[in-house]
Amino acid sequence: MSLGNNERRMLRMMLSDPKRAWSLDGLLEATGWTDQVHVAGAGTVLVEAGLVEIAKVDSRIVSLGSEGEKAAADGLLESRIWDWMQSAEAAERNMQGLFGAGFERHEAGPGVGLLKALGVKVEGGSFVCDDESSVAAAIASRSAFIESLTGAPADEESLDSDLVKHFIGRKNLISIEESTSRTWTLTKDGAATDASSLEEVEQIGQITPELLQGDSWRDAEFKPFDVNAPAPIPAGGRPHPMQALIERIRSVFLEMGFSEIEGDYVQSAGWNMDALFIPQSHPARTMQDTFYLAEPEQVEVEPKFLDMWAKVHEHGHDTGSKGWGGTFDKEEAKKGLLRTHTTVNTIRHIAEKPHEPCRVFGIGRVFRQETIDRTHLPEFHQIEGIIHEPDANLPMLISTLKTFYAKMGYPDVRVRPAYFPYTEPSVEVEVYWRGEWLELGGSGIFRPEVTEPLGSEWPVCAWGMGLERLAMLVLGLDDIRELYQPDLERLSKMPIL
Ligand code: PHE
Repeated sequence: MSLGNNERRMLRMMLSDPKRAWSLDGLLEATGWTDQVHVAGAGTVLVEAGLVEIAKVDSRIVSLGSEGEKAAADGLLESRIWDWMQSAEAAERNMQGLFGAGFERHEAGPGVGLLKALGVKVEGGSFVCDDESSVAAAIASRSAFIESLTGAPADEESLDSDLVKHFIGRKNLISIEESTSRTWTLTKDGAATDASSLEEVEQIGQITPELLQGDSWRDAEFKPFDVNAPAPIPAGGRPHPMQALIERIRSVFLEMGFSEIEGDYVQSAGWNMDALFIPQSHPARTMQDTFYLAEPEQVEVEPKFLDMWAKVHEHGHDTGSKGWGGTFDKEEAKKGLLRTHTTVNTIRHIAEKPHEPCRVFGIGRVFRQETIDRTHLPEFHQIEGIIHEPDANLPMLISTLKTFYAKMGYPDVRVRPAYFPYTEPSVEVEVYWRGEWLELGGSGIFRPEVTEPLGSEWPVCAWGMGLERLAMLVLGLDDIRELYQPDLERLSKMPIL
């Protein structure tokens, strides 16, 4: 922990008397500071560093009241009368004489009362005293008490409690104020600090070009940042709108009872296509559409799947299908590629758990050789999902997608017949937006050629929707590229989902 100069100074001073409970005044005097803010500030840092402990002390401070001030200047009433009695002729030591000496009526009565309480007696109208020295001593200690408080209020604890009690009983002589003060004491660690390490050094608070050009910074000490000091609040960060949208979609599917699945970007052509009964001659499999990889050129595929796909593609295996005919190329199936759709994740999920009913979804990045334009990117995301269970059917698929889009704020959804090699029936999903029907994705029921060889006995509702398309609707963009331009100004103004 590096201490600033103020902390060092305060700690060094406290080490001069390591056991002392230092008062504010004590510390101000020792450090030479004039402002208690320094003690409070340095004290807080030292407390946080575990070097000092602060204790609160409740105290009662006694000071002179208005009558007390007068007594300090002119003498206490009993003292003045006593002095007069000492010097007065015996014959005049009575009430009459008192008035004659200039004491007012309102003073004389109470004054004599005070003296009587001290042992003065009135016999036949005259004031007499058997034990003058004890009266004189009592008056002297009262006077000393008042004098000690003149201009110097004191803690009640340091005063004679009988005298405090006595003066509280007299009007406006003293007043008592309750207050809380603090004391600073070294902890064990604090007391063990080596005072020689606490020399104050010149600290640099600001780094300037001039400073860096010279050499002085090399041996200088830098002032620690006070991270608690008030500072302007920076314009807040926020998730990228795409990230926020992904989170939103995620929570909608979770809310609908789906679990999330994931998969790798790098896949074999076999899992990405052959498992989905996409014929090996399909135009989408060409280099123009798919990113095949030089590294890894091949991805390992379990032989049992290669054999299975060969049978399905060549003659339909035992699904009742005729297959595509021809000869299935296992080498082609092993080619490494960047996944072209996230349907590869759902089909692999079924292959892993063919006998477990499930509702799963995934939001993932896919890659296709597209020329970048207003509506196309070579990297984009799909919102994929399946329902794999005994009663899965087309109405269930459509109502699930309608529910999803309604929760996203697009209640008008329609479906149209479509074609995918791996679904039957196949449907395209469209959403109504600003007077137009926009195509957002494909879906359908997986064909038997896809699911039966894996051991599945139930229908599978499947879909794959474009995330960027949806984002364009949600954010009101005409150009898909705007989503990924690092224009902070623009991004910070995009609507919050
Ligand atoms: N995989 C298809 C696509 O990339 C979408 C789809 C998924 C269609 C699942 C039907 C079933 O567009």
